[in-house]
Amino acid sequence: MKKQLITSAAFILATVLFTPVQAAVDVDAAKSLARENNCFKCHGVDKEKDGPSYKKVAEKYRGKADAEAKLIHHITSGEKAKFPDGHEEDHKNIQGKASPEAIKNLVGWILSL
Ligand code: HEC
Repeated sequence: MKKQLITSAAFILATVLFTPVQAAVDVDAAKSLARENNCFKCHGVDKEKDGPSYKKVAEKYRGKADAEAKLIHHITSGEKAKFPDGHEEDHKNIQGKASPEAIKNLVGWILSL
């Protein structure tokens, strides 16, 4: 009986320890894709520029199931973006400029901040 308990406790512990919380993000690849596409001109990791900081974006979408899909759409559709001075223009669109995996990785990085 005791042995069985220890075995199941060990099993649970192993499951918790070895199950990744989310797929690993390649931080360097995400940052260089952002650099190549001038994302940092309007966004800082923690600094507000014309666009929200990526930490703010991560906070806004924390726990939302459709976060990834929304952000992928945001950077691949050229949807309207509202600037702090009130004017609107098409947001930077990287559709076709990077593989879907690389775009997904970039969004995963932003959401992980
Ligand atoms: C010319 C300035 C500019 C550039 C370049 C730019 N953005 Fe933005 N971005 C904005 C603005 C302004 C907003 C706010 C849009 C709004 O709230 O309507 C925004 C919003 C966002 C958001 C939040 C969307 C949301 O739903 O809350 C993300 C994520 C984002 N940008 C990612 C990127 C990435 C990735 C790049 C590079 C591929 C990029 N941006 C390039 C100006 C820019």
